[in-house]
Amino acid sequence: MRDRYDFLVIGSGIAGLSYALKVAPYGKVCIVSKDKIENTATKYAQGGIATVMYTPDTYEKHINDTLIAGDGLCDEKIVRITITESTDRVKELIQWGVDFDKTESGKYDLGKEGGHSEFRVLHHKDQTGLEIERTLIKQVRKHPNIEVLENHFAIDIITQHHLGIEVNRRTKDICCYGAYVLNKDTQDIHTILAKTTLIATGGAGNVYSTTTSPAIATGDGIAMVYRAKGQITGMEFMQFHPTSLYNPSEHPSFLISEAVRGFGGILKTQKGEEFMHKYDTRLSLAPRDIVARAMDNELKMSGDDFLYLDCRHLDKEDLLNHFPTIYAKCLSIGIDIRKDMIPVVPAAHYTCGGIKVDEFAQSSIKNLYATGECASTGLHGANRLASNSLLEALVFSNRASQHAVAKINSIDICEAIPDWDAEGMVLNEEMVLVTQSLKELQAIMSNYVGIVRSNLRLQRAFDRSEILYQETEALYDRSILTVKICELRNLILVSYLIILNAIDRKESIGLHFSLDYPRAIGNIH
Ligand code: FAD
Ligand code: SIN
Repeated sequence: MRDRYDFLVIGSGIAGLSYALKVAPYGKVCIVSKDKIENTATKYAQGGIATVMYTPDTYEKHINDTLIAGDGLCDEKIVRITITESTDRVKELIQWGVDFDKTESGKYDLGKEGGHSEFRVLHHKDQTGLEIERTLIKQVRKHPNIEVLENHFAIDIITQHHLGIEVNRRTKDICCYGAYVLNKDTQDIHTILAKTTLIATGGAGNVYSTTTSPAIATGDGIAMVYRAKGQITGMEFMQFHPTSLYNPSEHPSFLISEAVRGFGGILKTQKGEEFMHKYDTRLSLAPRDIVARAMDNELKMSGDDFLYLDCRHLDKEDLLNHFPTIYAKCLSIGIDIRKDMIPVVPAAHYTCGGIKVDEFAQSSIKNLYATGECASTGLHGANRLASNSLLEALVFSNRASQHAVAKINSIDICEAIPDWDAEGMVLNEEMVLVTQSLKELQAIMSNYVGIVRSNLRLQRAFDRSEILYQETEALYDRSILTVKICELRNLILVSYLIILNAIDRKESIGLHFSLDYPRAIGNIH
């Protein structure tokens, strides 16, 4: 099957949907989503979206907080663009229908999270992402120019490589002509030709065994672009969220929002002792990399499996009013957060690196944009400031839309692209080859490439994952395509990029902390 569109969008989270709404007045749009449209990381976002709304907050303060969290590696120009354009983008969300909580005075009720010097996080209780996702889906469903293909898995983007022209990492004019997409219901592989393509496939949390990211977060977009010889950057900076609910049988891990610490929740050891004063003067509200590392250190010293977040001293009615989902979730496993401390552990949460893009979200491949968690704009540097990612997705999807719209009429569809060749493939009936390799990969990444790394651990991870890579490529080459094998292949590739970038970074900085390059955990030496 072949289809033609002006704008192809791969992914239906905040990045993909907000972009689709912006370009839709200018041409035919197709959104492909590998699961149900709403199955995204976006819908799990709890804390909210950071933006400057009222004095005493200022753009300068938000810029400064972002730069500090990024530990010196943010691109300051990009930080300035993002923060100064953010309030307008958030107002657009409100116009689309997103309902952020207000105080009795009618002003937006702003929350605070780690690394923020002011209250500036807009939220909808502890379900901000769900509210945003629901609203954007409603708008998208109404638009006559937008077609949504759910349960469609993008396998690879199409470039001149598919016309038999050699492409390598030094090729300057690699061009994207669309994507090959597997219809999960019929098993057909569609050739979707497009004038422009946006990758908005989200992060890669599932390279680790414990993650807050949903199952769809398998780094597909990053892997697709790398295979197409596009540029990827900053993959060593995988962010671990300090407080996921300790409930080992649950995947993904349930998040206990940083907003709970912003509300006054305090981290404690199993003995009930506070510990953050040993590491950082900002205590439980230090930037996320510091808190996660301090927790990792406490867990290693005590040998315990989890720490506690204590909310028992907080106003009970306010607590339930602000965090009804967290309250209900904890209660469902026997923890009443008004009376009991919450057991928490750090979990992989956010992919700071990704597809390298410029200020208009253009990747190194022509007519290919990337926004949201799969992209690396330079905003986050070595560590993302809490609640800056929904924001980044909105700002750069808007910028990408403007850029794509301006040139859409000068681009032709490439009709010469051949359909997918599935000749000689056989059905892989041994799913254990895929499931066991995935478990091995996640164990390697969690044990050797987690919060604290070392040269020896990274080399081990590299050697072990190389074996998984060889085995999986061989299996892929002879198997009929399934989503599971494609995802495994993508996760292995993304792991390889994380390990390689981590080996290359010969310092401890932000989220990359190596025993071979000693540095204090926080700002207390
Ligand atoms: P996603 O929302 O993850 O969407 C990715 C889309 O791509 C999905 O539709 C998926 O199906 C599709 N896709 C992926 N691969 C393929 C493929 N091969 N083919 C077709 N489709 C594909 N950030 C904040 O700023 N504030 C918060 O409060 C906050 N809370 C969070 C809480 C949790 C539990 C988590 C996990 C993250 C949180 N984040 C938060 C981060 C934020 O939610 C994400 O970074 C953001 O939502 C990513 O949006 P996205 O559009 O880039 O990707
Ligand atoms: C949270 O609510 O703690 C998540 C915020 C984020 O990841 O930005």
